[in-house]
Amino acid sequence: MNRNRTVKKIFTANPTREGAGVHLKRAFGYKEVPLFDPFLLFDHFGSNDSRDYIKGFPWHPHRGIETITYILRGTVEHGDSMGNKGVIGSGDVQWMTAGSGIIHQEMPKGDENGYNWGFQLWANLPKSYKMMSPRYRDVKSSEIPELITARGVKIKIISGNVNGIVGPVQDIVIDPEYLDITVPAKTDFIHPTKLGHTCFAYVIEGKGYFSDEKKTVANEDLVLLNDGEQVVISTDAESVHFLLIAGKPLGEPVAWYGPIVMNTQAELKIAFEEYRNGTFIK
Ligand code: FE2
Repeated sequence: MNRNRTVKKIFTANPTREGAGVHLKRAFGYKEVPLFDPFLLFDHFGSNDSRDYIKGFPWHPHRGIETITYILRGTVEHGDSMGNKGVIGSGDVQWMTAGSGIIHQEMPKGDENGYNWGFQLWANLPKSYKMMSPRYRDVKSSEIPELITARGVKIKIISGNVNGIVGPVQDIVIDPEYLDITVPAKTDFIHPTKLGHTCFAYVIEGKGYFSDEKKTVANEDLVLLNDGEQVVISTDAESVHFLLIAGKPLGEPVAWYGPIVMNTQAELKIAFEEYRNGTFIK
């Protein structure tokens, strides 16, 4: 076991289309199961051309997972079968636990200059929680604590605990850590991680090194890390802005079709039958 988490594999986000024709970049998804367990998918959407996103993600179901949306720039209007309705704005997070089932829509609107930029992560739920009651957590940017270390590293804590500062998203079964970190130029940053948890970083901007890896990682690289007690990130002349995400693996079978992820094909079949005959929402 290494003390420092080393690089297992670097992925580059690839262009794909989702929803009603939204252009986005996917860093991992269906093909990578079970490499990122408990995480299933990571999408980055970023465009200043509304044609890339305006068709949005009209009404669709989810069951058995959590979808976590973090907006850096622009807005996403959402509505759901529980009667929730609202706007996720710049810096806001929506942590949606679909549980037994939710039908919702997510419609990106962009900001005043047409920019729409953010991320969607899917986290799996263990068998015993797949049919839990659905729940929304809308977290406003102002509720997300930001820590600045003596060396000028900025850490926004969406979920997790850094130096005793706890993020607003708590009581999630995979015990996640979701941090937005900026490490200034010519700085080393060490961050403890829980042993056995899956941990990855997605680089938003700039360049950095992970552990003793000589290759730099830059924009739109996703770095999957090996197990270890801590993450070490260093920079040269440029700063690096990235998301650091970790969670406890489930180690369960994955049966996945579209927006629904269960443990068995039989459970998937039931879910889609229920969606067709109108008994999906519990
Ligand atoms: Fe969705």
